[in-house]
This record gives sequence, structure tokens and C-alpha cells, in this order.
Amino acid sequence: MNPLNHVAIIMDGNGRWGLKYKRSRNSGHKAGLNTVEKIIKESLKQKIKYLTLYAFSTENWKRPKNEINYLFNLLENFLVNKINKLHEQNIKLKIIGNKNLSKKLSKLLSKSEKKTYFNSKLQINLALNYGSKIELLNAFKKIKRNNEKINEKNLTKHLLTKNIPDPEVLIRTGDTKRLSNFLLWQLAYTEIFFVRKLWPDFNEVDFVKIIKKFKTIKRNFGSI
Ligand code: IPE
Ligand code: IPE
Ligand code: MG
Repeated sequence: MNPLNHVAIIMDGNGRWGLKYKRSRNSGHKAGLNTVEKIIKESLKQKIKYLTLYAFSTENWKRPKNEINYLFNLLENFLVNKINKLHEQNIKLKIIGNKNLSKKLSKLLSKSEKKTYFNSKLQINLALNYGSKIELLNAFKKIKRNNEKINEKNLTKHLLTKNIPDPEVLIRTGDTKRLSNFLLWQLAYTEIFFVRKLWPDFNEVDFVKIIKKFKTIKRNFGSI
């Protein structure tokens, strides 16, 4: 049985779900938040140590302003209403991505990270304004600035995921098979599960099925 410490998820399909059932993309984002809560709960149950959720990419700024504002408001309300509950459950929140967001949101994010910093049951890495290419470029720049050797150890220590083990499992919902600039370095040997369901329809049963399947996979890492 493969050990499982870290699951990363590309939560895709909210917009299509919203249009299909409620005639608005934004209502799909709202519904997607319920799935986030379900998956956090199940991750605790499954004793997963790290859950990385792709919430907003560096490319998502190309979307209409009203959708972007809606997404960030949703996150803001979620944090205001749920951070105490997360804290009580011994969950640590870490933001990975460019935190140069609105003043109010940046403050709220730092506050939430600080509050939960010493928690140890589950670490949620929220990939927010995250892009893997810019993460890698910044890491190389830091190596150069510090006059360090270019090697794996030095590169990984300058990534936003420093001190976080690579994900063993990546799930992408929404019936799309691509990485969309997510964790390109960290996913080098990750088992990838593409799911047909749109994110708001994904649930804990689907999640557990993937975990069970993963545990039985023969992982070679280049060996036989
Ligand atoms: C959610 O799904 C991902 C986010 C960027 C928040 P989408 O909004 O991309 O949904 P689809 O792919 O358009 O259906
Ligand atoms: C990836 O989904 C980003 C998030 C889930 C936050 P997108 O819907 O933005 O990906 P593309 O644009 O279809 O590749
Ligand atoms: Mg999408």
C-alpha cells in the first residue's frame, strides 16, 4: 500500500456547473465551496497531512471583473466565517502564490495564516494567484542572487512549497486533461486522476475511491 501524505486538487468546472443549473457562472463558484468543505472533512478523516487546492491561477486575471470580484469575495467570507472552525480542528492554512492582492484580503490572509501557524493535523495550501512558471523563475532568480549552485536541493528550497513533500496524488475535476500551470516541478512523479465530474458535483465518495485506487498503484519512479 502506498503511503499518502499530500493530495493536490485542480478544482475545475464551477463555471460550467453554474451555467448548467443556475444560469450563472458565479453560482457554480458558490456551490464549489461546499465541495471544498466536504473534501477538507474527508481529508481529516483519511489522515492526509497536506491538501493543496488550486483556487486562482495567475492566468485567471483574464476573466471578467465581476467573476474575479465574486471569487475573492467568496474567499473573504469563507475565511471570516470559517477560520475559527479550521483552527479548532487543528488545521494550518498556508497561501501559496503571489499575495499582492487587495489590502483587505492580504491582511485577512496573513491573519489566518498566523492564527493557524502551529496547527498540525492537516495543512491546507491554498494556491491563490499561483502560477508554476513564475514560481520557478523566482526560484532561479533567488539562486542567482545568492550565488548558489543550481541543483535540486537549492531550487526546491526557493519554491513556494518549500518544506512540503511533493503530492503523491493530483486530482483534476471538470473533464479537462491539462495542468494549467500548476506545480509543474512538484508533480514530476505524481499519480494523476482526471475526473469527469464538475467540481460542485465531486464528493467524498469520489475522493475516497481515488485514494483507494492510488494505494494499490505500483509506483516505479523509473525502476521496475
Ligand atoms: C473553477 O472552475 C476554477 C476557478 C478558476 C475558480 P472554472 O471557473 O474554471 O469552471 P469552468 O472550467 O469554466 O467550468
Ligand atoms: C485551473 O482552471 C485553475 C484553477 C482551478 C484555479 P482553469 O479553468 O483556469 O484552467 P484552464 O484555463 O481551463 O486551463
Ligand atoms: Mg475551468
